[in-house]
Amino acid sequence: LSKESQQVLSAHEWLTKLYHHLIRYTKDGKVGLDYLQERGITNEAIDTFQLGYAPNTKDFTATFLQKKGFHQQMLVKYGVLTRGQDDSVTDRFRGRVIFPIRNHLGRTVAFGARAMEGQEPKYLNSPESDMFQKGKMLYNFDLAKKYIRKQNEVVVFEGYMDVITAFQSGVQNVVATMGTAITEVQAKLLRRYAETVVICYDGDNAGVEATYKAAKLLEEIGCQVKIASLKDNLDPDSYINRFGGEAFKREVIGASKTFMSFYMQYLKKDFNLSLEGDRLQYLEEVLKEIANLDSSVEREFYVKELSTEYNISMESLLGEIEQHRQKLG
Ligand code: GTP
Ligand code: MN
Ligand code: MN
Ligand code: MN
Ligand code: MN
Repeated sequence: LSKESQQVLSAHEWLTKLYHHLIRYTKDGKVGLDYLQERGITNEAIDTFQLGYAPNTKDFTATFLQKKGFHQQMLVKYGVLTRGQDDSVTDRFRGRVIFPIRNHLGRTVAFGARAMEGQEPKYLNSPESDMFQKGKMLYNFDLAKKYIRKQNEVVVFEGYMDVITAFQSGVQNVVATMGTAITEVQAKLLRRYAETVVICYDGDNAGVEATYKAAKLLEEIGCQVKIASLKDNLDPDSYINRFGGEAFKREVIGASKTFMSFYMQYLKKDFNLSLEGDRLQYLEEVLKEIANLDSSVEREFYVKELSTEYNISMESLLGEIEQHRQKLG
């Protein structure tokens, strides 16, 4: 490690401890603690994830780090401090709840910082740097990896809160992509630790679109993909808060679907299935996708569903699929 990298890690470690101490044991941090408790986060989870609170002051962090001898320029570069127009340097995460982002070795390399009273942005993250590239890591991978290995399965969420809420309620093979679409680097990382990847994104539109893309990528890389859908626009953390961890295991993870089942539903958004022409086009698209399946049992399984739902004989559906397969070679 370069001298600068060591300094960066050391500064992040100090801040992790400082912010965590403030939220757990001080009056200044109580507003953050109240916020997390309100959201159902236990003290144990606050300790496990080293959650913290950055006080709402201009230079508490700046002064603290300066006393420790860290260079201002470096702290600005890595986004712990901000340089204002008048060249003064101020705390960047002030008044926010702090989520340390740990690398695979458990060292804090960045922070996610959540506003509590509706300020924008909702989450302020450390900028990308040589120490932190969001697309190359997964939130909570360091703690989750032993559970992922043991279960040969990993659950992928969008957000920090999803991970923490699931983890404290007993679902521990969980990581988050931190809001962005899953990248090839992340997908390959997951593939090395588990055969099955359960995608469990938010139930809103953005979540469903991201699910489709993630599933495609993960399948290409050779993962066994399952898709866990949430109803009513819930996200995993709100689902678990409402129904509990056991229900989440049983009725969300346990009821996760194959990519093809998900796709058959997902594709409907492009069509008005009460129209004959749209129905035929929809079927054509689905059959094309089914034709890609290697297993004849699987192909027949989905064809059977279509046959029942659209009242078309298995024979002609399978015939169509054969044609597509011949084109595939
Ligand atoms: P809560 O509202 O606290 O429950 O968070 P959430 O995880 O449900 O938020 P959401 O589903 O909106 O976003 C999922 C993840 O995307 C978050 O955990 C963040 O990692 C990331 N994210 C969300 N909003 C922002 C933002 O404004 N800026 C940045 N940089 N990241 C964001
Ligand atoms: Mn979301
Ligand atoms: Mn969410
Ligand atoms: Mn949420
Ligand atoms: Mn055709």
